[in-house]
Amino acid sequence: MSLKHDIEFKLNGVSRCASVRVDMSALDMLRDVAGLTGTKYGCGEGECGACTILVDGLSLNSCLMFAVDCHGRDVVTIEGLAADAKADALRAAFVEHGAVQCGYCTPGMVMQASHLLATHPDADAEAIKRGIEGNLCRCTGYTKIVEAIASVSRTGKPGARS
Ligand code: FES
Ligand code: FES
Repeated sequence: MSLKHDIEFKLNGVSRCASVRVDMSALDMLRDVAGLTGTKYGCGEGECGACTILVDGLSLNSCLMFAVDCHGRDVVTIEGLAADAKADALRAAFVEHGAVQCGYCTPGMVMQASHLLATHPDADAEAIKRGIEGNLCRCTGYTKIVEAIASVSRTGKPGARS
C-alpha cells in the first residue's frame, strides 16, 4: 500500500498536482513540496497563526490541515497576495507603523488582516483585535500591528492600546 497520495488543487491561482504523504500537513506540503516558504511554522498546534493560509476563502491554520485535504480546494498563501493591492497596502502599513520586528509572525498577520479587511472592510480597532486574536506576536505588543491594519481599513482609525 502506498503511503503517498496524489492531489490536485489550485495554489495561488494556478492548478497544481502533488504527491504527498498521507500524514503530511498542508504546511509541510506548501513549504517542502511546493517550495513556498512564506508560510511559517510556529507552534504546529493551531495556537500561533504563523501558518495562516486561505482555503476556499476561509483563513485556516495550515499546520492543522492534512495536505491530502487540499485536494480540489483553492489554496492561497502569502506569495499569492503579491499582486493584491490590499495586501500591498497592509505590508506598507506594517513597515510604516513599525509593526514588524523579527518578522516571523508577519506573513500570517498579513494573511489574517487581508482576510479580515476583505470580509469586514470597515473593521475598527476592536474588530481588528478580535480578528487577529489567533495570531501571536512575541515582539511588538500588538499595538503597532492593530494601528497598521486600522490605517488600511475604511475607518482609518488608529488602534487603541492592546
Ligand atoms: S504553526 Fe500553525 S498555528 Fe502555529
Ligand atoms: S514581529 Fe516578531 S513575532 Fe511578531
